[in-house]
Amino acid sequence: MKHIPFIPLGNNMLLKALLIMLLLETNFVDCKEHKGHISVILVGATGDLAKKYLWQGLFHLYLNEADRGHSFIFYGGALSPPEKGESIMFDVLKSLSCPVDVTPDRCALLKDQFLRLSRYRQLKVAENYTALNQDIQNTMSEEGLHEAGRLFYLSVPPFTYTDIARNINATCRPLPGAWLRVVLEKPFGHDYASAQQLASDLQMFFKEEEIYRIDHYLGKQTVAQILPFRRQNRRHLDPIWNRDYVERVEIVLKETVDAKARTSFYEEYGVIRDVIQNHLTEILTSLSMELPLNYSKSYDVLKAKLEVMNSLLSLDHRSAVVGQYQNYLTQVREELEKKSDFFTNTQTFAGVLVQIDNTRWEGVPFILTSGKALDERTAYVRVLFKDNSFCLQKEVNRETGKTSCKRKQIIFHIGHGDLGFPAILVSRGLFKPKFSSSQWQEATELTSLHLFGQPLTDYYVYRPVQEMDAYSLLISNIFYGKKETFVTTKNLLSSWKFWTPLLEILDRESPRVYLGGTENDQLLDFVIESGGLQFAAVEPLEIMGMEQKTNSFASIHSTFLGNSMVSNWAEQLIEKLARDIQLAAESAVQHSGVFHLALSGGSTPLALFQRLSKHHHGFPWKRTHLWLVDERCVPFTEPDSNFGNIEKYLLQHVRVPYINIHPMPVDRNQRICSEEDLGTEVYAKEISSHVSNSSFDMVLLGLGNDGHTASIFPGAQDGIEGHKFVLFTESPGKPHRRMSLSLSLINKAREIAVLVLGKGKHDIITLISRAERSPIKWPIFGVNPTFGKLVWYIDYDALLK
Ligand SMILES: *[C@@H]1O[C@H](CO)[C@@H](O)[C@H](O)[C@H]1NC(C)=O
Ligand SMILES: *[C@@H]1O[C@H](CO)[C@@H](O)[C@H](O)[C@H]1NC(C)=O
Ligand SMILES: *[C@@H]1O[C@H](CO)[C@@H](O)[C@H](O)[C@H]1NC(C)=O
Ligand SMILES: *[C@@H]1O[C@H](CO)[C@@H](O)[C@H](O)[C@H]1NC(C)=O
Repeated sequence: MKHIPFIPLGNNMLLKALLIMLLLETNFVDCKEHKGHISVILVGATGDLAKKYLWQGLFHLYLNEADRGHSFIFYGGALSPPEKGESIMFDVLKSLSCPVDVTPDRCALLKDQFLRLSRYRQLKVAENYTALNQDIQNTMSEEGLHEAGRLFYLSVPPFTYTDIARNINATCRPLPGAWLRVVLEKPFGHDYASAQQLASDLQMFFKEEEIYRIDHYLGKQTVAQILPFRRQNRRHLDPIWNRDYVERVEIVLKETVDAKARTSFYEEYGVIRDVIQNHLTEILTSLSMELPLNYSKSYDVLKAKLEVMNSLLSLDHRSAVVGQYQNYLTQVREELEKKSDFFTNTQTFAGVLVQIDNTRWEGVPFILTSGKALDERTAYVRVLFKDNSFCLQKEVNRETGKTSCKRKQIIFHIGHGDLGFPAILVSRGLFKPKFSSSQWQEATELTSLHLFGQPLTDYYVYRPVQEMDAYSLLISNIFYGKKETFVTTKNLLSSWKFWTPLLEILDRESPRVYLGGTENDQLLDFVIESGGLQFAAVEPLEIMGMEQKTNSFASIHSTFLGNSMVSNWAEQLIEKLARDIQLAAESAVQHSGVFHLALSGGSTPLALFQRLSKHHHGFPWKRTHLWLVDERCVPFTEPDSNFGNIEKYLLQHVRVPYINIHPMPVDRNQRICSEEDLGTEVYAKEISSHVSNSSFDMVLLGLGNDGHTASIFPGAQDGIEGHKFVLFTESPGKPHRRMSLSLSLINKAREIAVLVLGKGKHDIITLISRAERSPIKWPIFGVNPTFGKLVWYIDYDALLK
């Protein structure tokens, strides 16, 4: 094996000689066809990521591809002038390593070759890119090589992307017929709007197929194996990969390090933007997407991912629990030179409950969680199956090795942790997995380790024959144009669209302070409860110390017009009201076996109906009777129909028995609200025959801008007092007649909730807080429960504007 003498770089004649030597050596000249020349340009060649992973990845690419027909040249670009940049870069190149199966001699030879094919370029201004292009073209024409492609890897901060993109597009595009691939590193934006901006900037210069956004998690061997695993084990997985069998899915990335020395980055990003929006979400979609018919089609895989991404149920305040390690605040104050009155809500820990709105996954909790300063460094996915086996025979009396009675799970172990290596584990009670790739093999020497409460011997354990770092795998995929392992513009924006609303909510929320490391004990444990997440243990106040947070999220409890009032931001207020309704329902059912709830129409309560339908799985719907407070004189099929809306937003999603649903009879005898049909009397009779003492357990009311409530309008004499329970009403300004419960019936209720939302209601709230309390002028003043209670639910917009 001959060694190639050291040749100084930057000398074209010598490089030419070298290329020819290399071509000879690798028999390119004898090859029937030379597949073309590829220039790889690593921008940011002297940065940390390049030093740690990217040069190594490019070296691997060279090792794997050099004798397959392509010729290569590698440019490292950075801002430094050549003298400085070159020496940094070549120090990195000298320390590259070969895979274990390459002999030291051969490794030395290959490194030498790679070194000689690598050149440093200053890439600072437009002219430098023009010169680079000239250099690439000269090299090719001197050697008589034709161009196959150019790969630009931008390992630089995102704010420089646009300038570099402009330069590449203007002067560095490859010759016609050759491909251009431009690789970008995260962050790809900070929220939906900034991601969109960045994406549209890039789209000015590049076509979508030219853009490769790296999410290095997709290059982790275990993560990259999720889809092949699902495909190869379809026969076993197809029947069980769904809501009927999967109890829940945990996607976990725990770190022991904290954000020290990186707080300027972390303050802007936080754990959700840093790892959950991208890495964990990519894993979520790989696990839950439908498998495309043809896996070789990148486009089909990406489309299936996008489909499941678009069917995630939107997140709200209750979807996440968040924390901040105790020292973070001190670190931020020191590193960012903030005063001691500076506080931050940045999350260093988050657990998020994600749910998928499709028939396969409906109701299955996907828990995404990550944090810094935790007790261990690990990353894994755990698919936990429902426990449906009952085992009669004592374990000691059963044949050993038969584990069908144990908890069934599939674990994609990504790295670190107790196991210490990437692996896929399948409970022996499930099935023995198949791997078509020879790069994965069964791990037979199992230690006495336990994983999630079970000894490793309870699982089939498969691990990669050779561990490979994520960047090497992805760089190879870039080379082969495997776009499905990268993040397309559509998928990126869809992810930001999903996460941005939660991020906005969390901006206003104080995270729970935790001590860090093993001292966290149970402080960050959380539970899934009525469709949301909650910390399992209450927050110990002593940790907060003197640094009480100001913008707490608890509702304000106060009084309004002599009754109780709850106030908060709209979303939290609705959540609180939904919870209060559930409490009332549970108590009524306990007391009398049924719950009678009367609902108002209009647009205000629609969000409440949605909330009730989605997050209140424990609600005693089967024992709930639904009544209407008021109804417009229109057919139920009209968009104006109150019942139509209750049907659409609530009844379609919850299981209320048909016989418990009581729409107002506005359409008797195929006529709408004819007095002769006696609809009001029919409804009053129906109420008195079902509801004891005609006393509803709960009545939900709204407040109109003119002071009306139910459908009792200002100036009305009827419906405020007297014995009439149900009546027709009319208001000069309103298009339809209405049927409404009278205030005297409403006032018999045990609980009355008046929900008032939005800036548009601020004026009427201000007005009635000062007005003379005349029910004729302002029917809302006619709401005075005889023995029950009245609670106002007014959001901050309506209360304070
Ligand atoms: C990059 O361009 C600047 C401005 O034209 C020039 O001064 C510098 O020498 C160039 N660097 C290289 C390595 O050509
Ligand atoms: C990209 O380059 C082409 C060719 O030089 C040029 O016509 C086009 O205007 C460039 N696009 C932008 C947005 O600068
Ligand atoms: C799958 O897609 C690949 C790439 O487009 C194509 O070559 C192959 O024929 C397709 N296979 C089937 C079964 O359609
Ligand atoms: C019904 O009303 C009567 C008289 O007001 C009262 O005594 C009785 O307790 C009420 N019944 C129920 C179930 O509330």
